[in-house]
Amino acid sequence: MKSYAVYNNKGGVGKSTISLLLLDIFSSIKVGDIRQARVLVIDVDTQSSTSISLLGNRRIQELKNKNLTFCNNLLNALKNKKGVDFSPYITKKEATKTTKKRLKLGAIDVMCVKKDSLIEFEKKCSIENTIKIATYIKQNLSKNYDFIFFDLPANIDSRNKLSMLAMQASDMVLIPTEPTKITINALNDTIENIKYAQNLMMHDKPREMKNAIVLNKTDRRTKQYKLHHKEIDDIARENNIIVFESFLPSAPTLASSTDETLCFETLKEKYLTYYDKTKKIALELIKHSNLTIKTN
Ligand SMILES: Nc1ncnc2c1ncn2[C@@H]1O[C@H](COP(=O)(O)OP(=O)(O)O)[C@@H](O)[C@H]1O
Ligand SMILES: [Mg+2]
Repeated sequence: MKSYAVYNNKGGVGKSTISLLLLDIFSSIKVGDIRQARVLVIDVDTQSSTSISLLGNRRIQELKNKNLTFCNNLLNALKNKKGVDFSPYITKKEATKTTKKRLKLGAIDVMCVKKDSLIEFEKKCSIENTIKIATYIKQNLSKNYDFIFFDLPANIDSRNKLSMLAMQASDMVLIPTEPTKITINALNDTIENIKYAQNLMMHDKPREMKNAIVLNKTDRRTKQYKLHHKEIDDIARENNIIVFESFLPSAPTLASSTDETLCFETLKEKYLTYYDKTKKIALELIKHSNLTIKTN
């Protein structure tokens, strides 16, 4: 099982969009050339844009009303020393087809987070506990999944233990970054938070953890890119972060998408031209994860 956190401390850089695009690619991967990869997304952002795009607003509200969220799961795990079953908190999005062109979409399991349970969890969980919980999550979910994605919120720091443990439970943190000064300015905070989470983990339970920048809303011909990519490369080199060669261009259709139109079933059709790009990003992610899997 491989797990990835998608995180940048700046909002609007494409964390959720890249999560959704990668979820589509990874859920259509065949493992050992036989079965579809089993994929789980844990949407750690209480705004739930990724989980709403996958399951719809009504379903997500229902799950939150019934306390069937990731934090409710973890709160039970904190209470019950033997641990608890994850399955009641996971909602399956069955394999479907896109609405118009009937392109295949794989099955994806989803967990979301709601604010009051998150606040309670943050009160009850100590930072030392995050390592135990991250290890618990990895151990328990690795039997059931080939890939887990954590979609993180922006504007966090070391007090946000849920986000810290999501990074600790991940083999790699993928950092969507725009080649703009304002995004580059946020990279320091982003890297600081990633290092804080990972250093705690490495101190306690050392294992290989990598970090990678993936450029979004990028056009290599622009002055902005030429001006800023070296700066991004320098920051990456200093901090031992990989910069993916593949990137996502700025897509007008994505830029003008609304909550209603950023629906998983329409994403592939609307942004088909960007799918090759996403596939390349997925292949780089697979390569850096030391996996030998082919995408369709
Ligand atoms: N490559 C892109 N081109 C144009 N717009 C994009 C692109 N990627 C994301 N967006 C848009 O930017 C906004 C923020 O993206 P989102 O994925 O929600 O960011 P985050 O999760 O980092 O806050 C959304 O409206 C999204 O549709
Ligand atoms: Mg988001």
